[in-house]
Amino acid sequence: MTSTAIGAPVNRLDGPAKTTGQARYAAEFPYEGLAHAALVHAAVARGHITAIETAAAEAVPGVLAVITHLNAPAMKPPPKRSILNLETLAGGTSVNYLNTGEVHWNGQPVGIVVAETLEAARHAAGLVRVSYEPLPFEADFAAVAHTAARARGNPMMPTAGSKGDADGALAAAAVSVDLRFTTPRHHHNAIEPHATTAVWDGDRLTVHDATQNVWWLRGHLAHKFGVPASGIRVISPFVGGAFGGKSNVWPGTILTVLAARVTGRPVRMMLSREGVYRATGGRQPSAQRVAIGAGRDGRLTALIHLSTAPLAKVGGWAEQITSMAQHMYDAAAIRHEQRTLQLDTISTSVWRAPGESIGSFALESAMDELAYGLGLDPVELRRRNEPARSPMDGKEFTHRRLTECFAEGAERFGWEGRSAEPGSMRDGRWLVGWGTAAAYHPAWLFPANVTVRLSADGTAEVRCGFHEMGMGAATAQAQVAADALGLDVAAVTVSYGDTDLPSGPGAGGSTQTASVARSVVAACEKLKKSIGTPRPGESYAGVLARTGRAHAEASVGSDSALGRIAGQVGFLARTVRDGRRWVKAACGAHFCEVRVDPETFEVRLTRWTGVFDVGRVINAKTTASQLRGGIVMGIGIALQEETLLDPRTGRIVNPSLSEYHVPVHADVPPIDVHCLDGADPTMPLGILGAGEVGVVGVAAAVGNAIRHATGVRLCDLPMTLDRLL
Ligand code: MOS
Repeated sequence: MTSTAIGAPVNRLDGPAKTTGQARYAAEFPYEGLAHAALVHAAVARGHITAIETAAAEAVPGVLAVITHLNAPAMKPPPKRSILNLETLAGGTSVNYLNTGEVHWNGQPVGIVVAETLEAARHAAGLVRVSYEPLPFEADFAAVAHTAARARGNPMMPTAGSKGDADGALAAAAVSVDLRFTTPRHHHNAIEPHATTAVWDGDRLTVHDATQNVWWLRGHLAHKFGVPASGIRVISPFVGGAFGGKSNVWPGTILTVLAARVTGRPVRMMLSREGVYRATGGRQPSAQRVAIGAGRDGRLTALIHLSTAPLAKVGGWAEQITSMAQHMYDAAAIRHEQRTLQLDTISTSVWRAPGESIGSFALESAMDELAYGLGLDPVELRRRNEPARSPMDGKEFTHRRLTECFAEGAERFGWEGRSAEPGSMRDGRWLVGWGTAAAYHPAWLFPANVTVRLSADGTAEVRCGFHEMGMGAATAQAQVAADALGLDVAAVTVSYGDTDLPSGPGAGGSTQTASVARSVVAACEKLKKSIGTPRPGESYAGVLARTGRAHAEASVGSDSALGRIAGQVGFLARTVRDGRRWVKAACGAHFCEVRVDPETFEVRLTRWTGVFDVGRVINAKTTASQLRGGIVMGIGIALQEETLLDPRTGRIVNPSLSEYHVPVHADVPPIDVHCLDGADPTMPLGILGAGEVGVVGVAAAVGNAIRHATGVRLCDLPMTLDRLL
């Protein structure tokens, strides 16, 4: 057992708690005297509030308080964002909610109602009447896309760069494509909507919150409410999906904490499904151009990838839409650039594989179109342009097995049976198309403080404030510790999701498993040294028993003020150093089959193969599930998902799962996931991260299959059947 702990398909340790209903989510913690809250949302995109009528709401039986900017106590405005202090990135927007009568987006919370029951709170919230002096606004991305400015983008990734004269090389190329793409707004639709339970005890605060980052949330609340972070405990043992939507602190959480302060009661609020769209940021839409030139030999001479995408005037995160273009293909000349503009909407946030998941739609669709222009198989085109080093700057790849992913995927899928001519493959009346595309996602590390305790009875505990959102993050760490200490996985408990634990990383960027494992391994090594050398055949727990010690403990990292700063400085130094030297990334190859009805243009996916290189696989089962889940989300991007905003009002008009469509089982084909499994030489245990790479390239693979089935190149997402008419 011990030697196979790493890599084994271990069932999730949190599975029984979830399937038996014992797992408690943020809105499920019982408190004596618990009150319930609901938000009041603005109905204009921009304006001053001129009046708020709350009498009708206050008259509802059971209503305890109606809090608006007219009676809310002062809070501190959100801190200025700075990459030097990552915690300042926590706040969703720059708005000081309920301390201002200004409205910055249609749906901004302008009040919170607290009542004895959820029903009373929601009913009363609907009775609050708000009057506005409306102001001019811009919310329609398409109308103002020409005003874009150079993006700052993701501070850890370049958003513009060039090598050679890409425009000249494109004009001179023997074969070229030049395509424009659009992708719509997306929202995260986690099963568990954002939820908070807040309890004050004097200046001490306990918060249960659906969050990807208990540490950012704690720091942000300490700042907003002017209390020491050490007096705030954030508890988040289970999160019902997040996908980036729970990485920032949104107004619902802040106002629930405020409501508890004002009423002196424990207060719980869960956003309605509509509330998730109004009060949390989704992913930005984009307009992209990809132009590629090649010689007749299929070698790229020019690669250009440009994007424009909106943030909000009140903030937002520029996804690194064009960043992947620097690392994929060995083109003689490359230019990539990302531009942003600011709209009167809620801040945009990150959405699984931010940047790559939509940037790859444009890049990998254009590569496929070039293959038609060259009369080359798209797998062969990619093989001919596989770079030995990162093509923009000659940096070394720490690990790059993309060609192997394509070869293995082609083999598993039976790609050699593809007839190249579009529309040439049929199954009865259905047009059949096969498509392929590459996946790519960068790998990073964040600081993690970890304590490991081994007991003489042969059990161990790993303590670290990281996050389990259902992906198997905790199970992976149990496997890492079991392997290091020579224990069964079942003998290891993992404690996470709590600021009373040593501080851990947020769940984001596919970084958690490697980041925490790095410290778990180090803590286990330290622990074994402190225990002493076992006799032949003896375990470390056996040494403890023999020497009369009940347990032994070792820690990595410190949560003193100095220790936290050292952790952050170390992280930044390591990121800069590694970034100068290497390109580290997971990659993969997708293969899919679509059937298109020749009369209705209905598109059905019938099978999928994904082969990935995610470095060392810690848990074969949960890793495959992450990759499969990414592919399912990518199918949503390809065929269904689209947040629609009315340009006349700036209001989202499809804020529900009945009108914002995500894939259901009937939309998802059998998915064959395979990992090459080989350690990256520079990452802890060789882990590159598997949370996001699966979604990258999926929409392009579907579009490429539709192109093969029908001859039609679709450049706008989602690829609904009306676009094929
Ligand atoms: Mo993810 S979009 O890094 O939570």
